[in-house]
Amino acid sequence: MKTVHVSTSNGYDVKIGSGLLDTLGSHAVRLLPRARKVCIVSDSNVWPLYGSRAQKSLEAAGLEVVFFVFPAGEASKCGATYLKLLGFLAEHQLTRSDFIAALGGGVVGDLAGFAAATYLRGIPFIQLPTTLLAAVDSSVGGKTAIDLPQGKNLAGAFCQPSLVLCDPDLLCSLPGEIFRDGCAEVIKYGILYDRAFFAYLTEQGMDFDREAVIARCVELKRDVVVQDEFDTGLRMKLNLGHTIGHGVEAQSDFTLSHGCSVAIGTAIVARAAAAYGLCGAEVRDAILHTLKHFDLPIHTDCTAEALYKSALSDKKRSGGSVSLIIPHQIGDCVIHPMPVSEIEAFIKAGL
Ligand code: GLY
Repeated sequence: MKTVHVSTSNGYDVKIGSGLLDTLGSHAVRLLPRARKVCIVSDSNVWPLYGSRAQKSLEAAGLEVVFFVFPAGEASKCGATYLKLLGFLAEHQLTRSDFIAALGGGVVGDLAGFAAATYLRGIPFIQLPTTLLAAVDSSVGGKTAIDLPQGKNLAGAFCQPSLVLCDPDLLCSLPGEIFRDGCAEVIKYGILYDRAFFAYLTEQGMDFDREAVIARCVELKRDVVVQDEFDTGLRMKLNLGHTIGHGVEAQSDFTLSHGCSVAIGTAIVARAAAAYGLCGAEVRDAILHTLKHFDLPIHTDCTAEALYKSALSDKKRSGGSVSLIIPHQIGDCVIHPMPVSEIEAFIKAGL
C-alpha cells in the first residue's frame, strides 16, 4: 500500500492499495471518532458491484449506514439530484460529526463532495474512487461541483476530503473504454511534469503497474494542489488539453467521453504548438505516439470555429485572453495566455 499526504488547509491522506475498500470502516472511525452515521453516495453501476462491501465494513466498525444511489451518468450531476441528496441527508438527520462516503467515479465524487461541502455548511467526506480518472484526478484536490444547464461544473466549492481510499482492484471491473479514458489523464501528468514517467507509460502501454502509476499521479497532483489549492495560478496547468477538449466533448453532445476528448484536445495543442514553433516536432510526435499507443483518439471532425466558440466559454478565460497549456518539452509545460482573437487560428493549425 502507498500513502500520499496532501498538506492543503485541511491535510489528508490518499491511500492506494489492494483491499482498501474493506478497511473503510476502521479507517473512518479512527479518523472521525465522533461519527455515528454515514451516508454512502453511489450510482446505479457501482452500487451493485461494491455497495455491500462498503456497507459491511462501515457497519462492522459500529456505524449506522444509509445509502443514496442515483442513476449513473453525467446527467445526474445536476441541481435536482443535489437537492434530493441534501433532502435525504436531512431526512436521515446526519449531523456535522457524521460523514458521507462517495463510492464511484467522478460524477459521484463531485456531487457527493458538493453536498458534503454545503449540507449543514459542511460535513466530512471520504472519497472511494472506482474509476482510473477519479483515482488520478477528481478524487484528489477538493474540487466539488454540479453541472448547470449552462455548462459543466458551474456550481461548486473547494472542499478537501478527509481521506481518499483508492483500491486498484475495483478498477478491474471497468469496461476497457472507461479504463482507457482515465489513461488520457495519466499521460497528461507525464507530459506536464515527469519525462521519465512519460517514457515508462510509452513503454508499458495499458499494461502498467496500477498501484505505482496511480500513486505517482497523485503525488504529482498533490505537488500542484498544495501550491495552488484554490486554482488561481499553477493549478491551471492540470487543464492541459482540456480547454479544447471540453469543446470537442460539448460538440459531441457529451457522447464522446471526457478522456477521449482530452486526448484530442492534447493532440490539437501539440500539433498547433509545433506549428507555431512553441515546441519541437519531436515533442509533438512523442505526445501523438503515446496517445495512439493507448488507443486514444487524436483527431476530430469539429471545425476550428466550433471549438473556438466553446473555448470562449471556458472557465480559464480571463478578460480578453484564454490560458492555454503548451508543452515546451515532455515534462515541462507553460501557461500561455492567448488573445481571444488568435485562438481560432491556433486551433486550426492543430486540427
Ligand atoms: N481536475 C483539475 C483540478 O483538479 O484542478
